[in-house]
Amino acid sequence: MSIKYKLTMMMMGISLAAVLLTVTAITSYLIYDMHDSKLKELAVTATLAGDRNSAAIAFMDNKRARSNLDIFRLNPAIKLACIYDAKGNAFAAYETGNTISCPPKADGIPAVLPEMLTAQSEVRQQGERVGVVYLASDTREIDTYVHKAIVISITVAMVVSLVTLLLTFYFQRTISGPILELAAKAQMITRNRDYSLVANTSYPDETGILAHAFNDMLGEVCKRDLELRQSNETLEHKVQERTHQFEQAKIKAEAASEAKTEFLRNMSHEFRTPLHAIVSFADYGVNEVETSQPLQLKQYFELIQKGAQRISRLVNEVLDLAKLEHGEHMFLLQRGDIHDLVQRSLEMVRPMMQEKHIGIHFEADTSQNSVVCDHEKIVQVLTNLLTNAIKFTPEGRNISVHTRTVPVEDAPVMEVSVSDEGVGIPEGEQELIFESFRQSSRTNTGAGGTGLGLAICRSIIKAHHGQISARNNVNGNGACVTFTMPAAMQEGRQIVQMQSVEEKHENAA
Ligand SMILES: Nc1ncnc2c1ncn2[C@@H]1O[C@H](COP(=O)(O)OP(=O)(O)O)[C@@H](O)[C@H]1O
Ligand SMILES: [Mg+2]
Repeated sequence: MSIKYKLTMMMMGISLAAVLLTVTAITSYLIYDMHDSKLKELAVTATLAGDRNSAAIAFMDNKRARSNLDIFRLNPAIKLACIYDAKGNAFAAYETGNTISCPPKADGIPAVLPEMLTAQSEVRQQGERVGVVYLASDTREIDTYVHKAIVISITVAMVVSLVTLLLTFYFQRTISGPILELAAKAQMITRNRDYSLVANTSYPDETGILAHAFNDMLGEVCKRDLELRQSNETLEHKVQERTHQFEQAKIKAEAASEAKTEFLRNMSHEFRTPLHAIVSFADYGVNEVETSQPLQLKQYFELIQKGAQRISRLVNEVLDLAKLEHGEHMFLLQRGDIHDLVQRSLEMVRPMMQEKHIGIHFEADTSQNSVVCDHEKIVQVLTNLLTNAIKFTPEGRNISVHTRTVPVEDAPVMEVSVSDEGVGIPEGEQELIFESFRQSSRTNTGAGGTGLGLAICRSIIKAHHGQISARNNVNGNGACVTFTMPAAMQEGRQIVQMQSVEEKHENAA
């Protein structure tokens, strides 16, 4: 039940009880008073009747006494009037109906009669008791009075109740209104989960204090809610981050495992061909050493030598690459002239060039030749690139080397390209050929190298904070491999953290 109705009922109940108590008390008092005054009135009437009949009693004039009593006919409430003589014998009587009658002796007069008022008075003459008058009257006046009093009480109670109801309805709002408003707001907050709502605090009593406390509590809930949401978000973010890290770690682990497998596969593949040649020609030699011509045996030895050289080269290059691709690597950065480095490299490949009658065209931008780099490593890169160019270029053609310094803001960049007139690199494989053991689909006849040269070159150039890439010449004739590196790095020994195999694979992916 709403507080509104509870308050109304309570106030109604209290006021009704008060009204009923008051009315009952007043009515009871009035009835008692009425009863008392009626008794007194009857006593006075009895005395008057005694006075009036004293002579008649004294003279034993019974007739007169009766005629005197007849006057009571004017008062219908008087039901019985009895006169007794000095000896207490009935002398005269006035009786209405036959319900009650005068007792024959004065001693037998009942003090109380049911639903009747009684009074008796001694009749005296000159101080001497000459008789007794006894009167009995009904209570009709009192009954009428009581009836009226009850009607009036009920009417008053009803009117008071009605007025109380109206007043209660009007005044209960001052108490229940703010409480109901607060309750409605609380319900709305629970339903909509909107903690930004606030209760009205303008009431200058305890409800105002309650509303203040309610708002404070809401503020606290709001704050906690926000904190909870934020911590949830942070948690979610952390979970996502961790999941991402785990995924990355998984990818890395998978890549590492894949790289290892691929490496082993490639290695065994690369070793198998020359080893097979060595074993086969060694077998021929052993079997035919007595029957074969020395020239034939020489041929076998040469083939064994070739196979062994190939394995040796392979092992060297694998070791080189392994050193370059793992952990820290020491680089000796020195200032030098790029022309000198190119010349040194050309010297190393000159026998190959001469063998294939390949011409060299060296075009250098002479304004700026100075570069800080690890000379041995850059010569190794240049030699690799020149070897490839010679290897994949038909006899009698040309190779060209271009060097130039590109001014990029404050840090000049050295750019070196080795271009040939060979088979070129198929589109889509120009990036792949930098991976270890990779050969382009155009040259993988099995007769070529190990497929490690360009991977070594990329590692060295990366350690120099540079880049290396391959493309075909614009005229569609041959390939061009270009590398760049900052020309003015700080000189001295430098330990370079090399990219791991896993990272390399990850990047490639
Ligand atoms: N100048 C070039 N012209 C055509 N293909 C090239 C050239 N340089 C490299 N390639 C391709 O890239 C592959 C990888 O080269 P590299 O890593 O030096 O290994 P290798 O020379 O031992 O085969 C070569 O096998 C070849 O297919
Ligand atoms: Mg090579």
